[in-house]
Amino acid sequence: MAEPRPVLEMTGIVKEFPGVRALSGVDFRLFPGEIHALMGENGAGKSTLIKVLTGVHPLDGGTITLDGKAVRIGSPLEAQHAGISTVYQEVNLCPNLSVAENIFIGREPTRAGRIQWKRIRKEAAEMVDRLGLDIDVTAPLSSYPLAVQQLVAIVRSVGHGDSDGEGSGTKVLVLDEPTSSLDRDEVLELFRLMRRLRDEGVAILFVSHFLDQIYEICDRMTVLRNGTLVGEHMVADLDQVGLIELMIGKALDQLEGLHEHQLRSDVGETLVKAEGLGRTGGIAPFDLEIKKGEVLGLAGLLGSGRTELARLLFGADQPDSGKVTIAGKQVSMSAPNDAIGAGVAFCSENRKTEGLVPDLTVRENIILALQASRGWTRPIPAAQRDELVAKYIKALDIRPANPEARVGQLSGGNQQKVLLARWLITQPKLLILDEPTRGIDVGAKAEIQKLVVSLSEDGMSVLYIAAELEEVLRLSHTIGVLRDRKLVAQLTNGPEITTSKILETIASGEHQ
Ligand SMILES: Nc1ncnc2c1ncn2[C@@H]1O[C@H](COP(=O)(O)OP(=O)(O)OP(=O)(O)O)[C@@H](O)[C@H]1O
Ligand SMILES: [Mg+2]
Repeated sequence: MAEPRPVLEMTGIVKEFPGVRALSGVDFRLFPGEIHALMGENGAGKSTLIKVLTGVHPLDGGTITLDGKAVRIGSPLEAQHAGISTVYQEVNLCPNLSVAENIFIGREPTRAGRIQWKRIRKEAAEMVDRLGLDIDVTAPLSSYPLAVQQLVAIVRSVGHGDSDGEGSGTKVLVLDEPTSSLDRDEVLELFRLMRRLRDEGVAILFVSHFLDQIYEICDRMTVLRNGTLVGEHMVADLDQVGLIELMIGKALDQLEGLHEHQLRSDVGETLVKAEGLGRTGGIAPFDLEIKKGEVLGLAGLLGSGRTELARLLFGADQPDSGKVTIAGKQVSMSAPNDAIGAGVAFCSENRKTEGLVPDLTVRENIILALQASRGWTRPIPAAQRDELVAKYIKALDIRPANPEARVGQLSGGNQQKVLLARWLITQPKLLILDEPTRGIDVGAKAEIQKLVVSLSEDGMSVLYIAAELEEVLRLSHTIGVLRDRKLVAQLTNGPEITTSKILETIASGEHQ
């Protein structure tokens, strides 16, 4: 059977930023009615290709054709008009308005100059219904969790017909890492919607670092490395090992070595002790000990209280019961500065809102926490500072390896590494890592996990939070299991502890 004509063809796409060639002559095509993964390591150029397609960045070379016609896409609005819809990870809707209003905002139907509210509600309900979603369009958007808000954003972007209201005007739907903060059920709901749209003929471009998800939902994939195209394959024809090798450009066994490692068994004395620590509405009072050199992993579903527990240990939230001792001394924990002073570092999952300053350089961002802990009146000598920064850029393989690059211009995964460097440089006694590998490609992920192991061998204690149970299990001496904002079990890792054991504990709320 002859292949149908691609709905979208990008040919010889070039995009340069000062000092970086983000895309050097990339070809990319997308067929109607397929879900197509765009794959590549952090910084490979995925988001840049998408931004060129959606009119965020002008092209420096190459052509784009839609339905066989050459197009110039000068702005996100022009992209939308041409039938290319994009849903970003951060939902840009108005939480106080109703779902229906959000779906129609900016294109409310009017009659005689008045907005037709009834029609908005009716049509919004039909759109939601047609896509098989169970959402009350009259409820405020904020009454739904972020995942549902994201679905609403998709409905908004694909649900509108061309100006005459006939059919869906969307030919191409772009989703750049939409699943990174969704739990399993939410992912399934999103996938259901994606399949539905695919079956209606929409071409979906999907970016995710979760390989299992790619294999579950995608039909075809395109792999980028270093701003160039390295291959386009049907998903069924390329297995995960082959894919990873294409992405990193070397054989996989160079990445191995993590499986064989033994957790050090001789963890030291108690470093951190929490007794009856809790916060109403955050997490029920819990007791917890972390020993020197111990990795304590936290397992639990999204919203089970993992981050809340970590925030109490860092003084980011105020406990209303209990106390914390670190190295034998009680710490007041009324603010993060108390925790930092006591040797606790917190690398947040939320690199945008709680972490990086996009307009500062990589160097400035890395040095921030160390400088703060020394006090702003005692600047770190330039030579020492530059040496430290260079060391961590190298250790974490931050790309570009340029301390003067602005952090906002780094790819998502590389930003995450800068945040990690910032906290490592303070040489904390306890390092709290909340989803440190989110948005990070497979190669860098293995590196970060190896780093955690070696830090623990050097005597650093680590509190490790990750959505993937295998990850927690592989790295942790002890696994704290959370459920409904309660610490329900603390399991000592060993041969009998498996992911299904942990899942059972999460499900039943107790360890048998
Ligand atoms: N606005 C910008 N200014 C300068 N350089 C940029 C800008 N945006 C991206 N880059 C650079 O272009 C390259 C590709 O980045 P891009 O964000 O496309 O990567 P990515 O494949 O999406 O990575 P990730 O998986 O980490 O999100 C990187 O070297 C990045 O530093
Ligand atoms: Mg990206």
